[in-house]
Amino acid sequence: MAKELKTIGVLTSGGDAPGMNAAIRAVVRTGIARGLKVKGIKKGYMGLLNEEIIDMEPRSVSEILQKGGTILGTARCMEFKTRDGQMKGVEICRKHGIDGIVVIGGDGSYRGAQALSRLGVNTIGLPGTIDLDIACTDYTIGFDTAVNTAMQAIDKVKDTSSSHERCSIIEVMGRNAGYIALWCGIANGAEDILLPEKYDFNEQNIINNIIANRKKGKTHHIIINAEGIGHSTSMARRIEAATGIETRATILGYMQRGGSPTCKDRYYASIMGAYAVDIMMQGKTNRVVGYRDGKFVDYDIEEALNMTKGIDSYQWEVAHLL
Ligand code: ADP
Ligand code: F6P
Repeated sequence: MAKELKTIGVLTSGGDAPGMNAAIRAVVRTGIARGLKVKGIKKGYMGLLNEEIIDMEPRSVSEILQKGGTILGTARCMEFKTRDGQMKGVEICRKHGIDGIVVIGGDGSYRGAQALSRLGVNTIGLPGTIDLDIACTDYTIGFDTAVNTAMQAIDKVKDTSSSHERCSIIEVMGRNAGYIALWCGIANGAEDILLPEKYDFNEQNIINNIIANRKKGKTHHIIINAEGIGHSTSMARRIEAATGIETRATILGYMQRGGSPTCKDRYYASIMGAYAVDIMMQGKTNRVVGYRDGKFVDYDIEEALNMTKGIDSYQWEVAHLL
């Protein structure tokens, strides 16, 4: 059972994601509205260990809803993976009177939250990643913005690719997960979609597809390639050599992770931030907030980390039909 809360902290950890600011704002304002003190912990667990901790007021989070990135900053911190690092984190929480922390990040960040919770600091995780690769939730903060940014960029590449009758390989983010690639593949009408979860590394199939489409009169051929497969530039060279069709690679990169969040990311992140504070006040700890079947829900961190999700086979089939 969690202890009574007086002061909570909020931190962002792992890769940043548009909408994290909306979540921070909601944690700060809900916490204060419920009578808590709220502290902002800068740069994830690294900032906790370095005591980069600031008092937050309702006005500290003014004008941040529409901003990409995270006003608290984020970092990766190897020291926090060690028992000594975690104990030091707990000591620092005690020193600053922090009874609980809302951790906004991905699976790795939840492991840190789990460690803190076991050592007596209440923790609630929020799913913050553009990759959508957190199994316990259908929604992650930042995915909607990132996928819309990528979709718009791909539309632009497609325009010039068609004009020049070229083949284009467009690499989108997703080191371990192909959700951005799948969604863009369907939303941009790509001819081929390469996902880490599905790709068989048979380039000859792609080459045959390009040649067949060209014979049918298609002026473009868009291949969406997920970062996890990568090597888009060398793939383009090989495809051009095999097909005789000019082939260019475009790597969208970090532009997908920045920018003003969409309405959906602002809305869901705001509700999740408030929800995290409210369940922590009910005495919950070691939980992750998710969105499933139309509802905001929460799971034990261990249970959440043991869940798996993959590419939906029906959606993958439809991607090919279209
Ligand atoms: P994400 O949260 O997006 O999955 P990472 O996997 O990089 O990103 O994790 C973010 C941070 O969470 C790490 O830099 C580290 O500080 C902390 N972390 C990751 N794994 C663990 C772990 N097993 N135990 C404690 N802290 C961890
Ligand atoms: O935020 C998710 C993500 O963009 C992944 O797609 C990618 O693998 C990773 O972050 C790269 O982040 P960084 O270059 O900051 O380590």
